[in-house]
Amino acid sequence: MATTSPGSTRPTTPARITVNGTETPLAPTAPHTTVLDFLRARGLTGTKEGCAEGECGACSVLVARPGVDKPTDWVAVNACLVPVAALDGQEVVTSEGLATAGAPGTPPALHPVQQEMAVRGGSQCGYCTPGFVCSMAAEYYRPDRCAPTAPAGPESDPGHDPEHGPNGFDLHALSGNLCRCTGYRPIRDAAFAVGAPAGDDVLAQRRELAPPEPAATAYTQDGSSFHRPEDLAGALRLLDERPDAVVVAGSTDWGVEVNIRSRRAPCVIAVDRLPELRALRAEPDSEDSPIEIGAALTLTEIERRLDGQVPLLAQLFPQFASRLIRNGATLGGNLGTGSPIGDSPPVLLALEASVLLAAPDGEREVPLADYFTGYRQSVRRSGELIRAIRIPRPLAPVTAFHKIAKRRFDDISSVAVAYALDIRGGTVRKARIGLGGVAATPIRALAAEAALEGRPWSPETAENAARVLRTEGTPMTDHRASAEYRSAMLGQSLLKLYAQTTSEAMPS
Ligand SMILES: Cc1cc2nc3c(=O)[nH]c(=O)nc-3n(C[C@H](O)[C@H](O)[C@H](O)COP(=O)(O)OP(=O)(O)OC[C@H]3O[C@@H](n4cnc5c(N)ncnc54)[C@H](O)[C@@H]3O)c2cc1C
Ligand code: FES
Ligand code: FES
Repeated sequence: MATTSPGSTRPTTPARITVNGTETPLAPTAPHTTVLDFLRARGLTGTKEGCAEGECGACSVLVARPGVDKPTDWVAVNACLVPVAALDGQEVVTSEGLATAGAPGTPPALHPVQQEMAVRGGSQCGYCTPGFVCSMAAEYYRPDRCAPTAPAGPESDPGHDPEHGPNGFDLHALSGNLCRCTGYRPIRDAAFAVGAPAGDDVLAQRRELAPPEPAATAYTQDGSSFHRPEDLAGALRLLDERPDAVVVAGSTDWGVEVNIRSRRAPCVIAVDRLPELRALRAEPDSEDSPIEIGAALTLTEIERRLDGQVPLLAQLFPQFASRLIRNGATLGGNLGTGSPIGDSPPVLLALEASVLLAAPDGEREVPLADYFTGYRQSVRRSGELIRAIRIPRPLAPVTAFHKIAKRRFDDISSVAVAYALDIRGGTVRKARIGLGGVAATPIRALAAEAALEGRPWSPETAENAARVLRTEGTPMTDHRASAEYRSAMLGQSLLKLYAQTTSEAMPS
């Protein structure tokens, strides 16, 4: 029976999700249940739980999403982080659904990525394999992957770099998948060996059709509810009615809270498909009009749609978590957590971005430099949503993002430093430096900026500013790094930037 969701005028239909082509009702699943638990409870145990916090990729599944170059993209996400109610009306493919049904009495035919994993020894105990093949399949179907007509061995074509196969396969597609026993070489061989999808490939054909529309969801079970309002006005209305609600976008932070800290919300409001939060404005031929990025676009969507137009953001994305996380994570969520070690705030501070906050009575623009007020605190009021992030232009010509972490990829920052410098005629005209991990909030390095501005871009200036930069913030010692290390890294970062921009080595 159709009902009407609070905050919506559209009747909702009973929540259901299409899994491997079969519609499955959500009821009686509790709203906080993850996609992973939902699938496994229905016998689809190929989807594994390794960590339940987005770190291992054993739970990776494919979801049909609005495409960048085609109507639909197959996007791999961590099923352990996404609440199943968020996929109401959506289509999911698991490792079981990748294989094609064979004739009666015969086993299903393996999908090309499964086949390559099998024949190249990419699987040993097999626990990680279903997750790997789902991430691999998403990359297999990426439209701008230049796939040759015939599969090629990894070493047969010298024209590829270590991170891309001769078939255009980007190894970073697998950066969120861990394997404990096979070793990555055979997995890489399998990835680099897949060809192009065949003409009758069902999942490739599905990409030519429109993606599923977001469903207006009002799903209540066991006293808690999950709502997907159809537009921003509906979401703000509902937020006003339910001040106890938790707002969720990609759920890459919230999912960890649910799984690891057992947090439960009486009411969840999903904002990840609100059209007003998913616009991107960046006229390529305009040097002056600001760039506006919808708060609910995923980092992968922003990365692909901007296509390098904001070089500092282009440097950030590959260093932010893994592809699996970036397929869900949003800028609204990164700012929404208020975390002092989030990676986007230093970058957005250096870009002098502002936050557009929507409320029932209108919208206000707050410079990001004034947004954070304390540890995980901000000026955002309880009834407000982050609608978009605005980046003024022209952009500074010299930019860099240095993330210091224990691992190069898929790790949380110990310290993050973002630079946007306007250096003309050998002089630093303007310097903006954003810092993460050295205070209770992300901060601007105001003293170091002053030590650079108006001075020649020289070893002396860089060394002096590096000394000043080491004194910025109030870093603390924790399990990631000591306070002394964090301060030292700030200075080293500026010396590295000088060396990178001039090729002049600096004494450390
Ligand atoms: C394995 C793993 C690795 C990670 N690596 C990194 C990393 O390298 N760098 C990094 O910075 N972060 C990292 N994160 C953290 C997380 O992915 C990011 O913070 C991400 O940007 C959160 O976005 P989301 O849409 O998933 O947020 P959600 O989890 O949906 O929400 C997070 C918070 O933001 C609020 N929120 C979301 N959207 C809005 C909005 N439009 N308006 C107001 N409030 C909103 C929510 O209420 C919630 O409190 C990692 C997380 C995991 C699990
Ligand atoms: S179970 Fe490890 S990422 Fe989901
Ligand atoms: S094959 Fe055993 S964990 Fe990867």
